[in-house]
Amino acid sequence: MKNHGIEIENLQKSFQDIQALKGVTLKIEKTGLYGLIGPNGAGKTTLLKCVSSLLVPTSGEVYINGNLVKPKNFAVRRKIGFLPEDSGLYEKLTAKQFLHIMAGMHGIPKEERKNKVKEVVEFVGINYPPSKIVKYLSTGQRRLLLFASILLHDPEILILDESLSGLDPINREHITKLMRELAKDRIVLFSSHILADIWRLCEKIFVINQGELIVEDQPENILSKMSDDSYFLTVKMGLEAIKEYLENYPKVSVIGIQNDKLLFKTENKDLISEVIKDIMKDFEIVSFGPNIPDLDQIFTRMVTAS
Ligand SMILES: Nc1ncnc2c1ncn2[C@@H]1O[C@H](COP(=O)(O)OP(=O)(O)OP(=O)(O)O)[C@@H](O)[C@H]1O
Ligand SMILES: [Mg+2]
Repeated sequence: MKNHGIEIENLQKSFQDIQALKGVTLKIEKTGLYGLIGPNGAGKTTLLKCVSSLLVPTSGEVYINGNLVKPKNFAVRRKIGFLPEDSGLYEKLTAKQFLHIMAGMHGIPKEERKNKVKEVVEFVGINYPPSKIVKYLSTGQRRLLLFASILLHDPEILILDESLSGLDPINREHITKLMRELAKDRIVLFSSHILADIWRLCEKIFVINQGELIVEDQPENILSKMSDDSYFLTVKMGLEAIKEYLENYPKVSVIGIQNDKLLFKTENKDLISEVIKDIMKDFEIVSFGPNIPDLDQIFTRMVTAS
């Protein structure tokens, strides 16, 4: 018997000569939010579709709550709600008709559909008339509709491909809140290029590059592993002079000046307070601290190092 949650074993997927996934193995057991990041074409959508049984892997397996995922295993499919990156919404229907059709496709009995549709519309907070034609919905309105549609069958696991992209900050926050709420008693695995969201929301981050899982860790661990123990300082005046001073200071190496910040390293961490005290004898320091790379820099470092 396999564990609960999502278990992926040596998953490979090729499209003719393109190896989109080259043997990904990962496990998610606890409820919560899990982020999948990686450059364009890394294999994120392919992975999420294999987990959701919308793509058949070339080799390897995916288990959901211990059950093997395969296209005809409808019992497993019903446990999953998949939000696609590019939606296949029926353009000519009204939003309400769309939800009713989806409810039918999920096998919800006719007499229950009305209530179920009402429930998901309220939960997701669809704030436009349900009589609106899908074709004329904005990106944000479509996302809300799709979100509602994947909740109709009460899935135990949510797989969201780029659920936060293309949204204004208010809608992004709105969808984020929904994801957080749903992740209280579900596993929610989502891909995103919005690193700040991934960083602040996720229990764990999976980084995929060229079809391979290259990093799997908690956000704070990735941050500390990627920081290089350097420091920054800023002053009102005399940055060049401090640079020169530190260049001649024993056991200190100067990285350079970037955007009004002087970046430098000490041979060991214990030296730093002494160095700062010495600088303050002659200069007025405005700000000082560990030089933590920004999220874009961390992403680039992870991907280029692999
Ligand atoms: N149906 C397909 N036929 C052929 N190649 C495909 C197909 N689907 C994906 N690929 C290829 O597989 C690789 C992985 O694509 P995938 O869509 O999974 O990347 P992604 O990480 O989701 O990228 P993005 O961030 O741009 O959405 C790419 O090289 C892509 O061109
Ligand atoms: Mg994608």
